[in-house]
Amino acid sequence: MRLNRLQLNNFKNYGDLELKFPAQVNFLLGLNGSGKTNLLEAIYCLSATKGFAGASDTQNIKYGADFFYLRGEFENNTKIHEVFCQVQPGRKKIFREDSRDYEKMSEHVGRYPVVLISPLDVDLVKESSDARRRFFDQMISQVDHVYLEALLEYHHALKQRNALLKMFAEQNNIDYQMIDLYNQQLSRTGKILHEKRKAFASGFLPLFNKAYALLVDEQEEAALVYSSGLESKSMEEGLKSSLKKDLVLQRTTFGIHRDDYMFGFAHGELKRLGSQGQQKSFLVAVKLAQVEVIKEHLGFSPILLLDDIFDKLDDTRIARLLQIVSGADYGQAFITDAGPERTLKMMAELNIPGDIFEVEKGTIRVKQKAREV
Ligand SMILES: Nc1ncnc2c1ncn2[C@@H]1O[C@H](COP(=O)(O)OP(=O)(O)OP(=O)(O)O)[C@@H](O)[C@H]1O
Ligand SMILES: [Mg+2]
Repeated sequence: MRLNRLQLNNFKNYGDLELKFPAQVNFLLGLNGSGKTNLLEAIYCLSATKGFAGASDTQNIKYGADFFYLRGEFENNTKIHEVFCQVQPGRKKIFREDSRDYEKMSEHVGRYPVVLISPLDVDLVKESSDARRRFFDQMISQVDHVYLEALLEYHHALKQRNALLKMFAEQNNIDYQMIDLYNQQLSRTGKILHEKRKAFASGFLPLFNKAYALLVDEQEEAALVYSSGLESKSMEEGLKSSLKKDLVLQRTTFGIHRDDYMFGFAHGELKRLGSQGQQKSFLVAVKLAQVEVIKEHLGFSPILLLDDIFDKLDDTRIARLLQIVSGADYGQAFITDAGPERTLKMMAELNIPGDIFEVEKGTIRVKQKAREV
């Protein structure tokens, strides 16, 4: 899949800007704070309907402006579509494909998939199970809408059940029928999600190992283990047996919202034993496996967004990564770097054709076209 054109209007540090991206590989070079990550975030936003930095939609509006919009022209198998997104405080976010407004943002998920490799990925190692669960949820949702719908339903029911538990504690009165109603909803959707997570994790592991081997020489068998309370108890049984505890804690303590994915090697967890570079390599392999998942399920390559990959990886691994992502079986890639010399040297040494864009305080200029490299 390709992004042929992108228009940004008052998105973060950009005013009004229109860019064309005819090449497969696009390098965005510029100093710290110039807007390289912001540009990747704009592309990400058109794919995922929201940014990646955890900011609210309105925080992405340029300081002092009233609204932002983004417009992207995507091409997939010769079909061209325009995706438009507009955010204005106090109004409903507009998200549109061609001339059709989406009623639910979830309808858009997976239609224009991107895979982002970013310094924020380290949260997947450092943070609690929550971050890993969210990552896998997003990854599975991109390729499986039944999963996404079940997930939304599950979270809705979970919220309601937790609110009930709180209310019962405050009123000192328990309505078991109401609890049972939410137990049923959670059991039905929880079972679907658990089975899909299990199947996904077992299919993901070989893809991950393959990607890891391409990137890293001395390979230690990596481990990626999905664990769930539903392995030992059904959702229904678990909810019933934990009700007493739930009433005391005023939240639901059993369920697939407590699942985890362990990242590591045969002899231990990545969090404890990986160096920063090893952790980064592991995470890059996770993302390359995500590319394969998308190719397998959707039949085309996602757009790859590589933010600051030069940080923490050694030259050999950077070279391998660049060769992988510029290969014929990969789609379009956008790669940022704050050190232009390094990128130019690598491009020449590895003979990687790519367009070079110079980013400077919210303006972007094409510096070099692919065919001249
Ligand atoms: N809503 C906004 N309005 C205007 N400027 C913003 C907004 N949000 C962020 N910025 C500015 O964008 C700049 C950061 O841009 P960005 O993170 O894209 O830089 P970068 O080129 O990726 O830098 P680095 O090399 O350090 O990663 C900051 O100067 C920040 O103040
Ligand atoms: Mg950046």
